[in-house]
Amino acid sequence: MIFLILLLLFLTPCVSGRFVVNVTQTSYQAEENQNITLEWTFSTRRETSLRSISILCKLFTETRPFVLFHLHGGVESPESQDPEFAGRVQWDKDVLTEGRLTLHVSRLRTSDSGLYVCKVFTDYGRNNGRCWLNVTAAEELEPQRPSESPQAESPRGLWLIAVITTLILFVVSMACIVLIRFKRRTYNAAIQMESSSEEQTIRTNMSPSESEHEVRLSNI
Ligand SMILES: *[C@@H]1O[C@H](CO)[C@@H](O)[C@H](O)[C@H]1NC(C)=O
Ligand SMILES: *[C@@H]1O[C@H](CO)[C@@H](O)[C@H](O)[C@H]1NC(C)=O
Ligand SMILES: *[C@@H]1O[C@H](CO)[C@@H](O)[C@H](O)[C@H]1NC(C)=O
Repeated sequence: MIFLILLLLFLTPCVSGRFVVNVTQTSYQAEENQNITLEWTFSTRRETSLRSISILCKLFTETRPFVLFHLHGGVESPESQDPEFAGRVQWDKDVLTEGRLTLHVSRLRTSDSGLYVCKVFTDYGRNNGRCWLNVTAAEELEPQRPSESPQAESPRGLWLIAVITTLILFVVSMACIVLIRFKRRTYNAAIQMESSSEEQTIRTNMSPSESEHEVRLSNI
């Protein structure tokens, strides 16, 4: 008897199936004036008709809740919709009986940010699914972009400038050293040349072998 009760308890959820409402995305990010599609999925039966589906979608913000979508027995009731969302919410009738609720919210406002909860009622169960939407101001983002890019590039640019400056300084100093050495060498050579020519003029009455020897030495 106990075994039978337990078996029934385990089998009941499998046979009837729990009615679930899922979200395809738990959080959405958008910019002001953009359009967005929020999507929920829910359990369906083979013979699910549009008339058997009722939906109530609300946005919860810090200030108050807003009704953005109300479907009663498969018929939309715009009178329940908050004026904030008037003419900004569209839904797909075709996919609803397949268990997909898609809400296209257009011309997003920053005040649309918050928690979106959709309750789905059918004759075989009810449940709800929730997701977050975060709408950022368009004016806030645009001036940030140009100031962000130079900020992001400035460390790289500074590095490049530093490396190039170091390279230039290195090359210039090397060139200076080489120049100084070259000058010194030519100066020494000139002095040697001068002294040797002086020596030659002085030692004109020397023997040719001796003068040759002197010239060779000064050349070295
Ligand atoms: C809901 O999500 C669960 C877990 O991801 C999944 O097993 C189930 O099939 C989904 N049901 C619907 C109707 O989307
Ligand atoms: C947003 O939706 C509105 C109305 O549905 C449409 O006129 C507009 O072109 C859409 N904008 C974008 C960027 O998709
Ligand atoms: C909304 O998005 C902005 C920018 O990405 C982020 O700074 C902020 O924390 C988000 N707010 C919420 C509630 O997720």
